[in-house]
Amino acid sequence: MTTAMLTPTRVDIYNLPHKALRRAFGRVLATLGAAEWQDAKSARAALAGLESVLQLSDAHAAAEETTTHAALTQARPEVLGTFGQEHAGLAAATRGLRQLAEEVTCAPERDEPGRRLYLEFGYFMADQLDHMAREEERLLPLFHEHFSDAELRAMEGRVMAGLKPDVLVAFVAEILPAATAAEREALLRGASAKLPRPLYEQLLHAAHRALPPAQWLALAKALGVDPDCCAPALLQIDFAYPGPWGREMTATYRMLAESLNELPGLRWKFWSEDRDAGRASGVYLFETAAQARTYVDTHVARLPGFGISDIHYHIGALNTELSLLNNAPMA
Ligand SMILES: [Fe+2]
Repeated sequence: MTTAMLTPTRVDIYNLPHKALRRAFGRVLATLGAAEWQDAKSARAALAGLESVLQLSDAHAAAEETTTHAALTQARPEVLGTFGQEHAGLAAATRGLRQLAEEVTCAPERDEPGRRLYLEFGYFMADQLDHMAREEERLLPLFHEHFSDAELRAMEGRVMAGLKPDVLVAFVAEILPAATAAEREALLRGASAKLPRPLYEQLLHAAHRALPPAQWLALAKALGVDPDCCAPALLQIDFAYPGPWGREMTATYRMLAESLNELPGLRWKFWSEDRDAGRASGVYLFETAAQARTYVDTHVARLPGFGISDIHYHIGALNTELSLLNNAPMA
């Protein structure tokens, strides 16, 4: 049993960021392994996932070096040399991964560089897991020896304040599903006390998106916030439609349906058709009512061009709890 495991009640500055990174590394490794490299869309998604985790990893290492490890260096200058070298090594590995990702992007045949990227990311992840575990086992007891919990919380506050808002939101979105219910609540309570209100609200939106609905409901209740405060918006459009129907409709609108997946904030769309009434409808779930409104303003005007008339639409905020009781798809 490690010293860190013997002192569970002390502030653990590594716990949440490391849980988030472990979760994200695992996901990215699996995504790189399953990527269809010759398929441009699959390759793009895999590389975007890789880049986002590298950004989190960079931000975390920078925060350690400028804040927490810098403080420990003053108290125990002899212990951080190895960890500093490891950070430099991990930074070099990160640059190598980005170079490989670039090669994958540019290569006419992407399978081989894609496979190399997958293997290299595996090595990188193994080094990171080893590094983080040793930080928790060897450095955390030293932090506890030299700093009070109040001082450690102040360091965590400085780390949070030093992150760019978009990086903080991305980090919190990765932390929340990786954390326990109590840790999620404590993190957001701390954020509520320390961060400007608009940034705290962005974190609530991130929590709503990142958590399974039941966990979001539990968190919202624990924090005393309205679970519908960040609820997605449901857009329903119904119109007269002359056809084509069925498979022919699928073939006609396949490309349009694919392009909808690029819309900002669209989670899903149901398509339905009623041949007897000569009507069709679409039900869309957007992250926000503003995104649904933008879609209506920019796309509904195009519908007459597809032979569509008598258009009715409605944008409504979801009642999360009731919708979940009826097993509505929320993700
Ligand atoms: Fe580190």
